[in-house]
Amino acid sequence: MTTLTRRYHFAASHRLHVEQLSAEENAALFGKCNNPFGHGHNYVLSVKVEGPVNRNTGLIVNVGALDRMIEAVILRVFSHRNLNSDLACFANRVPTTENVVQAIADLLEKGWGAWFEGCPEARLAAIHVQETERNSFEMVMKSHLDRQVFPLRAESVTVKAYK
Ligand code: NI
Repeated sequence: MTTLTRRYHFAASHRLHVEQLSAEENAALFGKCNNPFGHGHNYVLSVKVEGPVNRNTGLIVNVGALDRMIEAVILRVFSHRNLNSDLACFANRVPTTENVVQAIADLLEKGWGAWFEGCPEARLAAIHVQETERNSFEMVMKSHLDRQVFPLRAESVTVKAYK
């Protein structure tokens, strides 16, 4: 099995804050990231795809198709947004990068089959998001069997209409 990893960039802002906690508890938990007016990051998203190398094309997946999917499904949703207020999936979930990775995984899993119909053996293997020079987060996708044990919450990532 061979993998391909492709990198993408998006900028977004967020505020780490849990409504149920006091101001002091939020400050202790999130530090500067609890700043009421939020702050931004230049996120670097890496998407890892695995699959057999096609005998005719020599490719695992059509990179152009992957780019089109990431643009439509992820970048258009996350880029230049306030994650707390613009994305419905963060209405009741803190937009930590742990949760950003989960939301990206849910969106990619939900759309994958339709975007790669002609390439059924190419599988989403992992998602990695670099938030800062010091912080990065990774989700290794479960096998199909594991996914049935831990069902995806695709409905939780509905994106609010944005004007
Ligand atoms: Ni932050």
